[in-house]
Amino acid sequence: MTAPAERRNGGTAVPATDGVVPAADGAASVGSLLSDAERVLAAGGIAEPRREALMLWAAVTRTSPGHAWLQREVVAGEDDRVGFAAAVARRAHGAPVAYAAGTAAFRSIELAVDSRVLIPRPETEGLVQHVLDWCRAHNRWGVAVDIGTGSGCIALSLAAEGAFDRVIGTDLSLEALAVARSNLDAVAPRTPVTLRHGDLLWAIGQERADVVVSNPPYVSADEWSAMDAGVRDYEPRLALVGGVDGLAHLRGVLRLARSRLREGGLLALELDCRRAGDVLADARALGWASARVEFDLFGRERYLLATWGT
Ligand SMILES: C[S@@+](CC[C@H](N)C(=O)[O-])C[C@H]1O[C@@H](n2cnc3c(N)ncnc32)[C@H](O)[C@@H]1O
Repeated sequence: MTAPAERRNGGTAVPATDGVVPAADGAASVGSLLSDAERVLAAGGIAEPRREALMLWAAVTRTSPGHAWLQREVVAGEDDRVGFAAAVARRAHGAPVAYAAGTAAFRSIELAVDSRVLIPRPETEGLVQHVLDWCRAHNRWGVAVDIGTGSGCIALSLAAEGAFDRVIGTDLSLEALAVARSNLDAVAPRTPVTLRHGDLLWAIGQERADVVVSNPPYVSADEWSAMDAGVRDYEPRLALVGGVDGLAHLRGVLRLARSRLREGGLLALELDCRRAGDVLADARALGWASARVEFDLFGRERYLLATWGT
């Protein structure tokens, strides 16, 4: 999904060609680019234009907002100037910050993101933490499978931080897999990571895993219709909607993981706190006797953890 050619925010028209205009000779200082960006973002209805200008500059130049401020007298390089102008224009037209910047931080890694993949959320960092904690506590690594890998944030973090023999990421979206593949090339973890196309766990065939982890689509169709435009108009519907009731993918994984996990292996799922009780009941009904729900950093019931056959 791309940004609309023109979008009105708070009654102010933001033309698609608008952006950070450099000095005629292209020799704009970082400080002047930031000031121009602040004006463009304010005209686009962004509530904190100065802060966002600094954040976007830092993201584009792979520095920090503080560094941008220290560099304000310095003449900006051509690539940075052009990249920053494009990012500011995208944000002024309503794109979420991560899509505008083209990057998102997730645990220890930096990922390229665009509208082909969900923007990784802080809650999902907690899901990864649960998996790593369990693997360390049980000194069990082996093969991990991340279903619905999207940007690759879970699979690549597990590969970067864990001691797995192999990590497999799957996704139904070929477009998402293309993003994950370029992130895999950029992160280049020592642990081998393979990316596979397919529906849920069908993508791994008859292989067995020690860990199955997933942040599946878990929004209901009605909830998606009522979502903030910044999410609904930009993030892929396939990444968000889990059937009419939001439970279709969670139920599918609960069913399939029973035959794909090795004895005692871990299933770790992210879920919507409003349906944690339903997912727990489904898990128990499907034979996951050890299933329990854990809380996220905001104190909401967010993860289902279960082992198979123990
Ligand atoms: C909520 S996003 C999670 C993306 C990433 N793992 C994260 O945590 O940010 C769900 C992902 O599942 C993928 N997906 C949707 N339906 C699927 C299916 N039936 N089988 C495999 N992947 C699916 C979507 O394309 C999307 O990348």
